Amino acid sequence: MSKVIDVELRGIIKKFQNNVVVQDFNLQVEQGEFIAFLGPSGCGKTTTLNMIAGFLDPDGGDLLIKGQRMNGVPPYKRELGMVFQTYSLFPHMTVAENIAYGLKLRKVGKQEMQERVKRVLELVKLPNVADRYPKQLSGGQRQRIAIARALVIEPSLLLLDEPLSNLDAKLREELRDELKRLHQEIGVTTIFVTHDQEEALALSDRIVVLNHGFVEQIGTPLEIYNQPASEFVHTFIGKTNRMEGEVIAIDADGIKVRTTGGLLIQAAKQAREFSLQQKVIVFVRPEKIKLSDTGVHTGANQVEGHLQLASFLGSYTECEVVAGKHTLSVKVQMSDKSAEREAGTTVYCNWDAEDVLIMPAERG
Ligand SMILES: Nc1ncnc2c1ncn2[C@@H]1O[C@H](COP(=O)(O)OP(=O)(O)OP(=O)(O)O)[C@@H](O)[C@H]1O
Ligand SMILES: [Mg+2]
Repeated sequence: MSKVIDVELRGIIKKFQNNVVVQDFNLQVEQGEFIAFLGPSGCGKTTTLNMIAGFLDPDGGDLLIKGQRMNGVPPYKRELGMVFQTYSLFPHMTVAENIAYGLKLRKVGKQEMQERVKRVLELVKLPNVADRYPKQLSGGQRQRIAIARALVIEPSLLLLDEPLSNLDAKLREELRDELKRLHQEIGVTTIFVTHDQEEALALSDRIVVLNHGFVEQIGTPLEIYNQPASEFVHTFIGKTNRMEGEVIAIDADGIKVRTTGGLLIQAAKQAREFSLQQKVIVFVRPEKIKLSDTGVHTGANQVEGHLQLASFLGSYTECEVVAGKHTLSVKVQMSDKSAEREAGTTVYCNWDAEDVLIMPAERG
């Protein structure tokens, strides 16, 4: 069975004046896929989305939608739904009129129009606001209406530019779940722009990590999290401990590194090849480190340290442990019996060799 490719970017380049803001972007989006563009502010997410939508034209490369070259084709000929970074409902139109706008342009009959508006309002769980004006809605409700307006035309492609920004944490999470449910229900091919790694991990089939207009990595959330292609990807996708060091032993089981802060760290075999005395960077995620009060080993690695700070954050406690010349961040889950921690005590940090990621110190 051959997969259907809905969107394809082939070596897409975008410049503003002489400033290259998107460089050699290559991507194939399969039908029904949920793709996130993830990266820091200014990395080119909106610019790329606008090229897919047709609001900007690439300066190089080819853009294909359903196999058709789309360079130079205006947005209204692309059959796509878009939610903009600053959601832009028409203030002088009611919710129903806002949603119906795209249907009117497409000359859909009055009765069908009413039915479709009603259906899409139910889909976004706001069946009773059809007659209100945007200013009579909360921010989160407005964002849901913007999503409804994009969905009502039954687009073959849905483009969402940070549709959950400007919301408080709880509402963000609720709407995120709703987007996921919506996607499962209607299965429309979706490209979702965000700078929030949790959102990208929770929603996507695949994530494209962008940095300064460069694609750093394309992969499933698990691949991005566990097999980052670069230090940038690893550090952008979640909190981590970073230690510089040097490879002092390599054998069949793995690699041993001495850090500049005086720790000996055992790592399992890595995807990359390393050589003796190579300068490297060692990473261990805070949630992979277990704290204990005794020196009994529970993993291949153990370091003695001084608990400097313990911040209770509800479901977990974030600890800072000074070990050697390093300060390690440790996330202690509250299900852990020894979760109540007080600063000023001696603790032991334990972690497995499998939880150590090593990267070359020089990028390459
Ligand atoms: N019309 C424009 N003219 C000149 N430069 C622009 C223009 N639009 C965007 N840029 C620049 O291009 C780069 C990428 O912008 P873009 O809006 O794609 O970033 P983004 O990844 O969406 O960031 P954010 O997360 O802040 O929305 C930025 O450096 C920006 O300043
Ligand atoms: Mg943007």
